[in-house]
Amino acid sequence: RLRHGRIWRNSTEIPAKRLPKVLIIGVKKAGTRALLEFLRAHPSIESPGPEPHFFDRNYHRGLHWYRELMPKSYHDQLTVEKTPAYFVSSEVPQRVFDLDPNMKLLLVVRDPVTRAISDYCQAASKHPVKPFERMAMENGIQGQIHANWSAIRIGLYAQHMARWLNVFPPSQFYVVDGQRLVDHPAAELTQVEKFLGISSFIRDSHFRLRSFKGKFPCLVREDGSVHCLNERSKGRAHPVVQENVLHRLRKFYKPHNERFFNMVGRTFDWKS
Ligand code: A3P
Repeated sequence: RLRHGRIWRNSTEIPAKRLPKVLIIGVKKAGTRALLEFLRAHPSIESPGPEPHFFDRNYHRGLHWYRELMPKSYHDQLTVEKTPAYFVSSEVPQRVFDLDPNMKLLLVVRDPVTRAISDYCQAASKHPVKPFERMAMENGIQGQIHANWSAIRIGLYAQHMARWLNVFPPSQFYVVDGQRLVDHPAAELTQVEKFLGISSFIRDSHFRLRSFKGKFPCLVREDGSVHCLNERSKGRAHPVVQENVLHRLRKFYKPHNERFFNMVGRTFDWKS
């Protein structure tokens, strides 16, 4: 009997490295790490920790390289990987389809204005940057929105989603509400379990709010230990951004958000 992922198995099956059947394709800074860490608590899920970046930067390394990155799993488990750059890389949807036209695609979204600020905070933690307002606006705050700045461009969800929907049918996507993942993680995970066709396993008792910045749920492991996401890189303090710049950004994103809501058949409670 082998113990694997909290399941006692009588079978003689030998676990093997398998290609993913599920991808968390994005969006960067919307809660993709939290989604993966929470899903990994499920006995039917296996996943590599780091981001493989296979379908974007490492495609030339080939499928053997990709498979080698995967943990061993049983045939009735699902391997999941997350690389948020997939959502915004134009060549990725077709490459994924070529590998597996049945791939299930998870997308976590968050208010694009907050997401842009979160992205900026990540950049600021690595190298010196100008204030957010100066990055976001061209020629001073009366000027145009700097739509080509990656922190802003990534938030044009409709543009990126349109490319994915050219290749995959809507039924193969599940859009996770990044805010609900913080406020009601078990409820959001139940929806994801349904979409993936795995048993309903993750419950409220899997989560605990620890002192970690107060507001983010941490995962309670099988042995009772509590696992929070990295305190330095997740849940960073955001700068206070000038209200007029926030207002301009919200106006800028509004039509894009509406297009996105139409595409996915769902609306989100965003300020923009
Ligand atoms: P902030 O650092 O701006 O708060 P990603 O993993 O895609 O990079 O997303 C990072 C974001 O995940 C964080 O952005 C945080 O808001 C969000 N998040 C969602 N659930 C979380 C959790 N349980 N613990 C920490 N961060 C969480």
